[in-house]
Amino acid sequence: MSTQHLYGTPAPQPSSTSPTQPNPTDAPEKLHLTSHNQYKTPRLLRENLHPNPLIQFNTWLSSALDPKDDSPQVKEPEAMTLSTALPNGIPSSRVVLLKTVDEKGFVFFTNYNSRKSQELTSNPYASLAFYWREISRQVRVVGRVEKVTREESEEYFQSRPRGSQVGAWSSAQSTAVQEGEVQSIVDEKTREFEGREKIDCPDFWGGWRVVPFEVEFWSGQPSRLHDRFRYTRPQDSEGGEWEINRLAP
Ligand SMILES: Cc1cc2nc3c(=O)[nH]c(=O)nc-3n(C[C@H](O)[C@H](O)[C@H](O)COP(=O)(O)O)c2cc1C
Repeated sequence: MSTQHLYGTPAPQPSSTSPTQPNPTDAPEKLHLTSHNQYKTPRLLRENLHPNPLIQFNTWLSSALDPKDDSPQVKEPEAMTLSTALPNGIPSSRVVLLKTVDEKGFVFFTNYNSRKSQELTSNPYASLAFYWREISRQVRVVGRVEKVTREESEEYFQSRPRGSQVGAWSSAQSTAVQEGEVQSIVDEKTREFEGREKIDCPDFWGGWRVVPFEVEFWSGQPSRLHDRFRYTRPQDSEGGEWEINRLAP
């Protein structure tokens, strides 16, 4: 792999008189990224793919977590970019952690009042993207979302460290807050829960499952001639057959 290069034109000097007070009209420096990394992983071949993309995903995830050959271990392979969109089509993305892959799809947990949850409620479709840099692999998932059962959310909530449980109760995720406001709610909630062995899962917190109708596996190859395979099935056929196509890189 080649080294990364970054160069840019110097930003104009801040015109504000106080160095601690950035001027809101300062222009950003223009940066160019000029790297040309050469990706090289073993070829991805049609005959090596499992007909079920969830099983294929699990194979990739297992080898990212615990490589059987001499390929590097991937750091936090469960981190995935989740994209949602408003009904008018305006998208937004953020990183969340994959917690379960079950026979239906990909599960993550969050605050049900957050921006992402509001977008998923008003437009129940999502896309996920995994990028496993160390092994030059990418996976894209597109699907319809559903909330997991209350039991699943409660069970997972109970497995979280106590600090994260208190944090979930204390954060009205995605809302604007004053400096120090969240910490004072954390302190208040910590006192409230003191002496209690079990902290219940808040009603406003739980899991979403992305039930895919498209899953794409991407494996980096030299000269941008990457291997790509896309699994698709009709949007309304949860148990349906998957069609697999190789895609041009
Ligand atoms: C590595 C990483 C993992 C994260 N995992 C989660 C997660 O599992 N659930 C979650 O709600 N937010 C998670 N976050 C925070 C989200 O990226 C995001 O800031 C938060 O959920 C609010 O997003 P929203 O305002 O779009 O709803 C994670 C962030 C990072 C960088």
